[in-house]
Amino acid sequence: MAGYTDRAFRNLCKDWGVDYLVSEMVSADGLIRDKAKTIQYIHFDSRERPYGVQIFGSDPLTMARAAEALIPFQPDFIDINMGCPVKKVVKRGAGSALMKTPEIASDIVKAVKKITRDTLPLTVKFRSGWDSAHINFLSFGLLMQDSGADILCLHPRTTSQMFSGKSNWQHIRELKSQASIPVIGNGDIDSPEAALAMVEETHCDALMIGRGALGKPWIFRQITDYLSTGNYRPIIKSDLFATAMKHLDYALAYKREDIVVREMRSQMCHYTKGMPGGAELRATINHCGSAQEIRDNLKDFFQHFL
Ligand SMILES: Cc1cc2nc3c(=O)[nH]c(=O)nc-3n(C[C@H](O)[C@H](O)[C@H](O)COP(=O)(O)O)c2cc1C
Repeated sequence: MAGYTDRAFRNLCKDWGVDYLVSEMVSADGLIRDKAKTIQYIHFDSRERPYGVQIFGSDPLTMARAAEALIPFQPDFIDINMGCPVKKVVKRGAGSALMKTPEIASDIVKAVKKITRDTLPLTVKFRSGWDSAHINFLSFGLLMQDSGADILCLHPRTTSQMFSGKSNWQHIRELKSQASIPVIGNGDIDSPEAALAMVEETHCDALMIGRGALGKPWIFRQITDYLSTGNYRPIIKSDLFATAMKHLDYALAYKREDIVVREMRSQMCHYTKGMPGGAELRATINHCGSAQEIRDNLKDFFQHFL
């Protein structure tokens, strides 16, 4: 998730047993024209493997060149974003706008596949369609499959829904029943129980989790345990505190402190959501000028709960 799933967050998820990780989305244009700036979104630690890089763009040749530029980084797979609904992406014909131009989307997959061939799996992530009058996930997904995608991932909302309303898991079920390649289900998995429901309702081959992991990276361990044993360990406040502190340390290990301090404003609020005094803590963290100040505030806050 752009702005959230950086190396620090991905490493936290790894600590909590995630199976696969994907980068934040990376612009194909950026990869070619401004590599130095774009590269920060690609770097990963070897312990993050299996790790994929997600690229977005609207021109088949540019996307192929971007895939080529990724090869030296040796990701474990490449993912193409055909689901982003954000205005500045869709107005360039990229992200979920590609669902309105399936022939271009198909050319993109074919062009990237020429680079990845059979050695680097190619995954494609898309939505249900542009809006409720244009639901085309099934024909679109099958076209991506026939164009060379190895795995499909469906977030069953329309572009016009953005992230609101409930995702329609029936769409995942339909796609799974028709596709001959694996289908990853995504959308509203925010608990181990929801994960089991997704598997049972859609029969999808794997689960993708976005917002449900923010401030809750242990969700991966809990889901794995729940799906295999029917039980999982509930999280206690000391897990929250330790994970929030670790998040800060992981980020400081590779980013400048002023950047980390700024980014932690949005990250930290997820660890204290719904807790008494959480809103005050978030307001305080918004004014912290150093990592040590954030640490001190977290300690003060959590000592009432530990
Ligand atoms: C802040 C934010 C950033 C996101 N960035 C990306 C992205 O870079 N690439 C992508 O494929 N999806 C992105 N998404 C979408 C999520 O990956 C996911 O498909 C969507 O939120 C539904 O799944 P969830 O309910 O598990 O979050 C983003 C979502 C949010 C809220």
